[in-house]
Amino acid sequence: MAAEIINGKDLAQELRMSLKDEVTELKQKGINPHLTVVLVGDNPASRSYVKGKEKAAAEVGISSSVIELPATTSEEELLDQIHKLNEDSVVNGILVQLPLPKHISEQKVIDTINPNKDVDGFHPINVGKMMLGEDTFLPCTPYGIITMLKSRNINIEGKHAVIIGRSNIVGKPVGQLLLNENATVTYCHSRTANLRELTSKADILIVAIGRPNAITADDIKEGAVVIDVGINRLETGKLTGDVDFNSAVEKASYITPVPKGVGPMTIAMLLKNTVKAAKGLEN
Ligand code: GUN
Repeated sequence: MAAEIINGKDLAQELRMSLKDEVTELKQKGINPHLTVVLVGDNPASRSYVKGKEKAAAEVGISSSVIELPATTSEEELLDQIHKLNEDSVVNGILVQLPLPKHISEQKVIDTINPNKDVDGFHPINVGKMMLGEDTFLPCTPYGIITMLKSRNINIEGKHAVIIGRSNIVGKPVGQLLLNENATVTYCHSRTANLRELTSKADILIVAIGRPNAITADDIKEGAVVIDVGINRLETGKLTGDVDFNSAVEKASYITPVPKGVGPMTIAMLLKNTVKAAKGLEN
């Protein structure tokens, strides 16, 4: 039987509606959530993601600003800019769009963001809190994935979750969040020797490789929950995930599509984190 499709676009829309109500209430209390995005250089994919974030923020009543800096910006100039945003009481959330030009250390930039404004959840303090299961900003894509699973009441406890990909943005943190939910977690990556042997044992398979249609029905277990994090643009201009949807949909129990899957959820969770950052001011 074909899998149920978890539509991230619809779920993200529902989340935005509920955030919009929350933002209206906050504004009545004099709290105006504000997100500042810093974009360095002119990577077209980054530019398009930033546009999506601005549009979604406006939809829920979160004001946003984008600071565009040239690709030639020095690391020192960027760190100065972040210090200014850290000090600016109007700014609740700071997001520096990655990747950055090669001459700038991404980790140094992330380390400089005030952890209380780190709506990406990338600062080492927030990563540490996440590992400890403490309340903090969760990284948006992993947070979106967990929210998608919970939206369908998919049982995580005791399940074998297999993650393909070990990036700091997706693979590592999504494994940690699944572990926090009592899954048994296996991490796979480019050096994994026996990939299919592992993926075919997964009850929950998270695919974040960055290669179009790399995972097919032959790699997955009958009835698995398949979450496709990939966003690949083919030469034809068509967007496709890391999973061969047409074959996998026949074998999985649940599957996320691309587009309209994890992508819109990432942005919705960013808005949720921005509201959380703004609410921090209430205390
Ligand atoms: N580039 C790709 N994904 C992300 C993300 O979640 N946050 C930031 N800041 N940059 C990204």
